[in-house]
Amino acid sequence: MSNFWENYPSYKEDLDKVQDIMHDTLISKESYLNETLGAMINKRGKMIRPGLLLISSEFGKNQKYKKEEILQLAAIIEMFHMATLVHDDIIDESETRRGEYTLQYKYGKKYAVYIGDYIFTKCFSMLSGSYDMDTMKNISNVISRICTGELMQFHSRYDLNASYKKYLKVISGKTAALISLACYIGAYESGADEKTSKILGKIGYYLGVAFQIKDDILDITEDDKGLKKTSQIDILNGYYTLPVIFALQKDEAGVLKDLLKKEEKTKEDVDLIFNFIKEHKGIEKSEAIATRHTNKVLSLINKLDNIEHKDILKKLVENLLYRKN
Ligand code: IPE
Ligand code: IPE
Ligand code: MG
Ligand code: MG
Repeated sequence: MSNFWENYPSYKEDLDKVQDIMHDTLISKESYLNETLGAMINKRGKMIRPGLLLISSEFGKNQKYKKEEILQLAAIIEMFHMATLVHDDIIDESETRRGEYTLQYKYGKKYAVYIGDYIFTKCFSMLSGSYDMDTMKNISNVISRICTGELMQFHSRYDLNASYKKYLKVISGKTAALISLACYIGAYESGADEKTSKILGKIGYYLGVAFQIKDDILDITEDDKGLKKTSQIDILNGYYTLPVIFALQKDEAGVLKDLLKKEEKTKEDVDLIFNFIKEHKGIEKSEAIATRHTNKVLSLINKLDNIEHKDILKKLVENLLYRKN
């Protein structure tokens, strides 16, 4: 999945520019800070959010469209994402991400909190002035949705009454909101009409839900090497995601509940939980929900004009559903 953009040279080129903007924005006069930030910017991730923003901008492109502003907005969105990951790794106590040690692991939690905050403030100062008031409001709103999603998830740790409904609420906030926003503002800030911008916003929402379900499946099924980030930690941290929720529905004897109740789980406990999930088709059922959301995305894409970029969007969506990292 990481190489997706290589197939589309004009997107690859634009995303390189996005990375340069991030670099220029975050780099300061302090060499110790540059060492930290430089490594993080260079090890880029899948660039899904800025990529989606750029694809969505292709559905506008009237006189309002200014390429530089769109590239800058894409950089802001990716930096917001990066800041949330820095903080998320502290909360989750993750040791690796993007094939490197995380900041919290390398420099400690206190330093990582400040780095996350620093990136957030840089985003806000870049935003001021250049964009529609509505865009500013939408972005602030999404940041608070990410925070409440993460808070809700934290608050519900070890909850044996975990439900699909609550899970959906958490992932809508922590993940789908930002992906939806990237699509919506990419279109809106390029002058797309309200109807098209809203369709793209919905595409981002359903895609975000499918994307997080897939991430949660991969956390359970894949190892760190393939994923390049710490895996199999959701269960250890007490985050009972969709595969666990489905397994819980089949736990008449309370075997799974007894295991999940434990705040300190051994490797054997985690293996038993994993086997229970597999036995009761927790992975397949979750895959089916991710596929259902992806199908909603694909049918919404059909409503859009602009054949060439629509096809790229479809390919991206399919790649995300079938990804292994
Ligand atoms: C990680 O996002 C956080 C989730 C929402 C699952 P990505 O998987 O997009 O992370 P990078 O940017 O590619 O590293
Ligand atoms: C992503 O959730 C949270 C954010 C959107 C910040 P995860 O905790 O599952 O993401 P990873 O697995 O660490 O990338
Ligand atoms: Mg995490
Ligand atoms: Mg995860």
